[in-house]
Amino acid sequence: MSTQFNRREFLKRGTLGAFGLTILPSLYLKSAPSDRLRIAHIGLGGMGNQHMKWFAALPDVEIVALCDVDQDHLNSTLKTLKELQPGNQAKGYGDFRHVLDLKDIDAVTIATPDHWHAQIAMLAFQAGKDVYGEKPLSYDVKEGQMLLKNLNKHNRIFQLGTQIHAGDNYHRVVEIIQAGAIGKVHTVRLWKNGFSPGMGHPKIQTPPATLNWDMWLGPAPYVDYMAERCHLNYRYFLDYSGGVFADFWCHIADVVWWAIQPKGLKSVVARGEKTDGIADAPKWVDADFEFDNLKLYWTTQPPNVPGAADRGIGAYFEGDKGSLICDYNTRSITINGETVSDIPEIPQTLSRSPGHQQNFVNAVKARTQGESNLAYVRDMTLPMHLAVISWRLGRKLNWDSEKEKFIGDKEASSYLSRKYRKSWDLI
Ligand SMILES: NC(=O)c1ccc[n+]([C@@H]2O[C@H](COP(=O)([O-])OP(=O)(O)OC[C@H]3O[C@@H](n4cnc5c(N)ncnc54)[C@H](O)[C@@H]3O)[C@@H](O)[C@H]2O)c1
Repeated sequence: MSTQFNRREFLKRGTLGAFGLTILPSLYLKSAPSDRLRIAHIGLGGMGNQHMKWFAALPDVEIVALCDVDQDHLNSTLKTLKELQPGNQAKGYGDFRHVLDLKDIDAVTIATPDHWHAQIAMLAFQAGKDVYGEKPLSYDVKEGQMLLKNLNKHNRIFQLGTQIHAGDNYHRVVEIIQAGAIGKVHTVRLWKNGFSPGMGHPKIQTPPATLNWDMWLGPAPYVDYMAERCHLNYRYFLDYSGGVFADFWCHIADVVWWAIQPKGLKSVVARGEKTDGIADAPKWVDADFEFDNLKLYWTTQPPNVPGAADRGIGAYFEGDKGSLICDYNTRSITINGETVSDIPEIPQTLSRSPGHQQNFVNAVKARTQGESNLAYVRDMTLPMHLAVISWRLGRKLNWDSEKEKFIGDKEASSYLSRKYRKSWDLI
């Protein structure tokens, strides 16, 4: 039995006690260093720095390693961490495989570009680490399948970085819809305004000496360096992601999957336009999804329904007794022409989150999956991947949701997985 396992068991017994109660965070203030979860952060750009700050603020977490392929990002985050926590002994790494080799790390967070998420998470599972990983879950459908297989095989905990899930608003929307206030929901309209930028037509550049460009590209095809493809902008390139659509889908689809669990996806058809620069992700995309129990629409412009134009992102639920519109923080319910922000008679049936990151830490200690667990987030991520494929091919695609295969479309099927670049096929 490994030391790590012993310590985990100790944490589990020590924090959950004989009654299996959730322990209040304040108790952790007194926890000894040996009771703390030891965490490493991988990928230290915009979101990775946020991860570091979120986890640094949790009393029962110790940040022991930071990792980035860009030495400047690594140094800057190490500096911030040591300013936040004078005396912190965290070490810096340029290669996440060295982090995964560390025996005394319990969990990693992953905030690399999307094309790296799944390989790093799978290798972390294989190395016995739990993972708090950023959205979108995966680069393609096969990666989602492989992740779930590896999670189960290695008995790991995974939480997707959909932190809006933890807020009160989504909890309340789910309670109101599940209580039947607007009746049976037959249609949901999702939207996120804003176009993916084209990034112009820059020339090839020499990568900065502080950046390991080959490793940044990792499993994606090799291309020469341009700053316009790299940090932050990568999300507008199909080699790494899928534009604004892929970036925001799971934040707002989350409330739909939670409230009504769409089942039996039958077809998807997406329309849109390419950007006018080197970036090849959709500039905008609209998609129609047909499920057994739901029609679901995604648009780049707000739909023509009351309250949508005021919201940059949102979900509009249409039921047979009324409608509900929400975004991350607000909601309105309309029944018989009357609009309210809450229905106090509907009881609070969902326990509130202690915070998305604390929820993950508690899940790791209790060895139970957390609120944005892998099986759940894989289900809601998959339709996004299919819509990108439909947009690429410019046609409607029929889907067998049991077999997770396109029906009669070999070309579409070839987009369900991609070959990793040989030198970076690590699984
Ligand atoms: N949950 C949210 O609300 C939210 C918000 C923003 C971004 N994100 C997600 O966070 C991730 C990162 O986005 P970002 O905006 O911070 O991008 P970014 O480009 O600013 O940062 C990515 C970092 O990962 C590093 N990196 C690349 N490959 C690596 C590897 N193999 N090992 C270690 N480090 C590597 C890069 O050098 C860079 O520092 C994306 O998946 C994005 O979708 C989530």
